[in-house]
Amino acid sequence: MDYAYCGYSGLQLPRIALGLWHNFGDVDNFAVATDMVNCAFESGITHFDLANNYGPSPGSAELNFGRMLKDILDGHRDEIIISTKAGYKMWEGVYGDGGSRKYLIASLDQSLQRMGLDYVDIFYSHRYDANTPIEETARALSHVVRQGKALYVGISNYPTEVAERMYQLLASEGTPCLISQEKCSLLMRRAFDEGRVEVAKRYGVGTIAFSPLAQGLLTDRYIHGIPADSRAAKIHGYLQREEISPEMMSRIARLNEIAAQRGQTLAEMSLAWLLREGSDITSVIIGASSVAQLQRNLKSLDNLIFTEQELQTIIMAS
Ligand SMILES: NC(=O)c1ccc[n+]([C@@H]2O[C@H](COP(=O)([O-])OP(=O)(O)OC[C@H]3O[C@@H](n4cnc5c(N)ncnc54)[C@H](OP(=O)(O)O)[C@@H]3O)[C@@H](O)[C@H]2O)c1
Repeated sequence: MDYAYCGYSGLQLPRIALGLWHNFGDVDNFAVATDMVNCAFESGITHFDLANNYGPSPGSAELNFGRMLKDILDGHRDEIIISTKAGYKMWEGVYGDGGSRKYLIASLDQSLQRMGLDYVDIFYSHRYDANTPIEETARALSHVVRQGKALYVGISNYPTEVAERMYQLLASEGTPCLISQEKCSLLMRRAFDEGRVEVAKRYGVGTIAFSPLAQGLLTDRYIHGIPADSRAAKIHGYLQREEISPEMMSRIARLNEIAAQRGQTLAEMSLAWLLREGSDITSVIIGASSVAQLQRNLKSLDNLIFTEQELQTIIMAS
């Protein structure tokens, strides 16, 4: 595993992190989920990304991860980075959603309880809430760091100008923003195009890319149709069948050919493209439904070098 410093901080993150959004809930196979976390840790993936609502049911990924911390990661707490988030709807009523101090602090307490932890390494505001003053969200994030319930804080899914304001506010609170979590892949380049990666860099904030394989589109998963065990076929999956259109599949086929010319799978090339030198991406958070997928994706680190010609061809094809 390679590690990179996250923004202007002393925290090194593995270039590949494992996310527990899908396949770690109480509808999923706990043994497979445990094997994936075990394989990840054995491979040097020290960063596990969660959120209060991951499941389904919401909260069950944190509960399951808490069990794994006892079963397979006991004694390793100081070797791992655990992140969680609050922002999307988690419980009934007006206090279980958004960016208020009330919601963020209560939610982090619940997450800690579910995972059996005293603190998380990174706590995120999961989304921008236009109905809450940004200063309130910033102060709540800063507060949990002062309380010792989170070591660092981050933001996710913020518009560029609001993200910049948040970086300023958190810095003035004395708890600088560590990281921005952005949806980012060959098929989704808005974080670059809208300047968020550049602004984060300017403020010494790292950028971590989520859904770097576009939920499985940027792999060979859908080349011959929609497999029954795939995310697009599952009722709980967030990848919609409509997204696997003929137009999308012809883009995927073109990218697949370029990957083959580089001696990589499409998944490997897609992750390598994000992690290549000059892209300003600290790390990618991958999802997986099997140990085999996880192991295959780790191979992306073997070739992070692209020629200018390759980069141009890839952008044109995607
Ligand atoms: N901040 C946010 O708002 C936000 C939002 C979304 C995600 N995230 C974070 O980002 C993490 C990753 O998101 P994601 O799961 O969408 O990431 P992803 O890496 O784009 O997609 C993962 C899916 O791709 C398929 N896959 C992975 N490797 C493969 C391979 N080698 N060959 C074939 N198929 C492969 C699997 O689908 P199958 O299940 O079909 O096998 C897997 O579940 C989440 O767990 C979460 O931690 C954050």
